Amino acid sequence: MTAITEEIIPVTERIELRAVDERYTTELHGLVIKNKAWLQESLNWPQFVGTEDDTRQNIQSNQMLHQRGYAKMFLIFCESEMVGVLSFNAIEPLNKTGYIGYWLDESHQGKGIISQALQAFIDYYVERNEIRRFVIKCRVANLASNQVALRNGFLLEGCLKQAEFLNGHFDDQNIYARIYAS
Ligand SMILES: CC(C)(COP(=O)(O)OP(=O)(O)OC[C@H]1O[C@@H](n2cnc3c(N)ncnc32)[C@H](O)[C@@H]1OP(=O)(O)O)[C@@H](O)C(=O)NCCC(=O)NCCS
Repeated sequence: MTAITEEIIPVTERIELRAVDERYTTELHGLVIKNKAWLQESLNWPQFVGTEDDTRQNIQSNQMLHQRGYAKMFLIFCESEMVGVLSFNAIEPLNKTGYIGYWLDESHQGKGIISQALQAFIDYYVERNEIRRFVIKCRVANLASNQVALRNGFLLEGCLKQAEFLNGHFDDQNIYARIYAS
């Protein structure tokens, strides 16, 4: 029998990142539905998630992008419970640049889970020499997300005007980056 290897990034004794996989469909779907209304305040996609099949299709396409290196999607587990997602929404391999996205279960905020996961995620890709420029783009109005960037040593590079469509408006977006020169 062939052993199935799972890509895992250890974060702390309690937290780990597991590469997206179809086996997590039911748990991820449950987490999205539980947080759907709240997430819709800061992200555009939750409104399109209805059935578990929607989540399965999303996982399948992300799994393909993950394996081909055009994006990466990791599920955040805290004490073996899925509590959020940390991704490269896009990777530019030539430029060694990764565009980071994240969200947490609402009740798991305020514990440093994203910050700690982000640090391990960055270390993992720096060590592999795959990414040197890490980018966070977030709406100016998203205070919690701006704080994640600032708390983790990202520098504000500028403000992109009306760059993000959300809930009927084109909002200004801050762009932050952290660069690891080897
Ligand atoms: C953005 C989001 C992930 C931030 O979550 P978060 O829990 O605030 O982020 P962190 O992991 O950095 O945690 C920081 C908080 O934990 C506290 N904390 C506790 N232990 C900590 C530790 N070891 N390290 C860092 N912070 C710690 C900090 O004091 C801070 O608390 P505060 O907000 O009360 O000051 C979350 O609000 C979210 O999912 N929002 C909706 C989706 C979204 O907006 N995504 C981003 C789109 S651009």
